[in-house]
Amino acid sequence: MSSDEADNSRRRFLTAATVVVGAVGTVAAAVPFLASWSPSARARSAGAPVEANIGKLEPGQQIIVKWRGKPVWVVRRDEKALATLEDSGLTEKLRDVESDDSIQPEYTKNVYRSIKPEYLIMVGICTHLGCSPTYRPEITPDFQGGFFCPCHGSKFDFSGRVYAGVPAPTNLTIPPHYFISDDVILIGEDGVA
Ligand code: FES
Repeated sequence: MSSDEADNSRRRFLTAATVVVGAVGTVAAAVPFLASWSPSARARSAGAPVEANIGKLEPGQQIIVKWRGKPVWVVRRDEKALATLEDSGLTEKLRDVESDDSIQPEYTKNVYRSIKPEYLIMVGICTHLGCSPTYRPEITPDFQGGFFCPCHGSKFDFSGRVYAGVPAPTNLTIPPHYFISDDVILIGEDGVA
């Protein structure tokens, strides 16, 4: 190899080495940038409110939204489901019909446990030991529809009110929420009174 070729090859090596160092420098610079975003991610998981679009929800359907790491159900109840809620055949089987011993915002302490009767917004965690009950929209002679916890058999009606004689001690929890518009709700915050 001539001395010119040796010089060229050394230059190519140095150029390549500079590019690699430059790339490492870029990665290193990206870390503080990403770190600067992490507080808002932490804030979200700590409890920042979340929006849910319910514009496409059909009667009888349920969607699940994550808030504070928990599943929050949004259920659009149909006429049949709403009709069960004041039926004495059901209410006499419930432990806390008026939701006196259960957790919900004051503005949802009613038979529907909601702001608008059609829409139920509820934390999908069993008040016994924290399993996630399943949505059972079918109304049968044995069960007037609602939610069933497979872990130890607790039953809840279409408002999340617990049946008497099952392990769950209280009704399912209603989180703070309000309607931003007809199609969008904000979960995790009370609306302006
Ligand atoms: S966790 Fe639901 S019944 Fe026990």
